[in-house]
Amino acid sequence: MSDRVLTVQNSGHIRLHRYGDSPDGNLFIVEAERQVPFSVRRVYFINSLGNPQAIRGNHAHRELWQAIFAINGSFVLTLDDGVRKDSLTLDDPGVGILIGPMLWHTMTKFSANCVILVLADHWYDEGDYIRDHEQFLSMVTPV
Ligand code: TYD
Repeated sequence: MSDRVLTVQNSGHIRLHRYGDSPDGNLFIVEAERQVPFSVRRVYFINSLGNPQAIRGNHAHRELWQAIFAINGSFVLTLDDGVRKDSLTLDDPGVGILIGPMLWHTMTKFSANCVILVLADHWYDEGDYIRDHEQFLSMVTPV
């Protein structure tokens, strides 16, 4: 995964502690309010991403902060703050990306073995979603 600084607002890389115990596996650790800059209220994961045409995300959140990881395999994450866009491949379980408020995010190009892990700072709330890109653009304050 590229270490290039992200240009969009409310994002950044998250690097986890990792212990390589080869040949007995790798251990990755994420601590709330340390590696992720919020207290975690919700965890969800996504698997069975074998459809090469699969698209996930395609929305933004008004207030939610999330941290997203490819804990197995890889996918492409595209972030759009309404002014700038970044696109990067997540393929390292130890490096995640922060997705803060008002970031339109889309996940594509999943490897067949991809498993996505997401940590979020709030419980699920459909009212926090912006699912219409035109509406999103109309809400964005240029930065
Ligand atoms: P959504 O966040 O749109 O999925 P993705 O961004 O991965 O494409 O969620 C899909 C549906 O799943 C949503 O309409 C409601 C349900 N859902 C919950 O009930 N709780 C949750 O925490 C999440 C993430 C989704």
